Amino acid sequence: STTPVKVAVTGAAGQIGYSLLFRIASGALFGPDTPVELRLLEITPALKTLEGVVMEIDDCAFPTLAKVEIGDDPNTVFDGVNHALLVGARPRGPGMERGDLLEANGGIFAPQGKALNEVAADDVHVTITGNPANTNALIAMSNAPDIPRERFSALTRLDHNRAISQLAAKLGVPVTEITNMTIWGNHSATQYPDLFNAKVSGKSAAETVNDQEWLENTFIPTVAKRGAAIIEARGASSAASAASATIDHARDWALGTPEGDWVSMSVCSDGSYGVPEGLISSFPVTVKDGRWEIVQGLEVNDFSRARIDASVKELEEEREAVRGLGLIG
Ligand code: NAI
Repeated sequence: STTPVKVAVTGAAGQIGYSLLFRIASGALFGPDTPVELRLLEITPALKTLEGVVMEIDDCAFPTLAKVEIGDDPNTVFDGVNHALLVGARPRGPGMERGDLLEANGGIFAPQGKALNEVAADDVHVTITGNPANTNALIAMSNAPDIPRERFSALTRLDHNRAISQLAAKLGVPVTEITNMTIWGNHSATQYPDLFNAKVSGKSAAETVNDQEWLENTFIPTVAKRGAAIIEARGASSAASAASATIDHARDWALGTPEGDWVSMSVCSDGSYGVPEGLISSFPVTVKDGRWEIVQGLEVNDFSRARIDASVKELEEEREAVRGLGLIG
């Protein structure tokens, strides 16, 4: 069709935005035949920087880019959007406690949820990248009662991609040989990358690795602490890889997952695998016709159970904290 897909990006003048916008405009989300319209939200002091970024976007003369609009009012920028990529968030400042961080982000994601509820397209799909992503998604979802809950998701695809990359490197195989990877739980240091259900060339990844010591003491912490390692090496947090994962996530949600494989997405739990209903937690999902389904019937051994439970407990604590702050019902 020639009607452009309207894609909103918040925090568009930030680091991730600087990678993400050019990828979307070049057709990486929906392919070369689907025009896109960018709707870019920033806070007022960042609008001038954003204008500069838009000048560069113009200078690329992307054939798939139909239009760009920028602004600082979510009710205007989100009008009629089909996909909302919520990247802008409040980072943890010096001396900031978790409660302060959740409250500051509540001040961003509650009004953005309300605005989406009022003005977004009926088919809107909302992806939260900004941290703490899972709980920010919970806040946005809870403030958008007219948008079906399954249209909110948080990004654990970067963790998923990191897990694939680490496993492929360990075994000396191409990343294309790794399938059925799962990140369970929260996008935080408690996340659980699961090698017991992952496959290498169609065989169990855990059995192929055959090294519980590596799995436990190298693989899991390397994946879970990769964000900190990037900051240490680069002096700034992961941006191009986070943008790439946001594209992967939104593209697969729109266009579907390959037969026989699945991806990790943080979505609203229906109680599957003992994750309390209503929490935004990472699961293995398949996608068809724009709708995700949690993969059922996977084996969760005692080791996995304990790891999943610990991460889910953290999500429950975050939910209690934002409930206490009046940010969710
Ligand atoms: P950044 O600080 O470079 O950019 C954030 C932008 O958001 C800034 O330009 C800021 O002005 C804007 N912003 C703040 N409040 C806003 C609001 N109310 N509305 C619109 N824009 C607003 O940060 P960066 O590196 O681009 O990262 C963005 C977020 O993504 C951070 O929260 C970061 O922790 C998170 N992240 C998440 C990952 C994931 O896997 N889920 C991976 C990497 C980063």
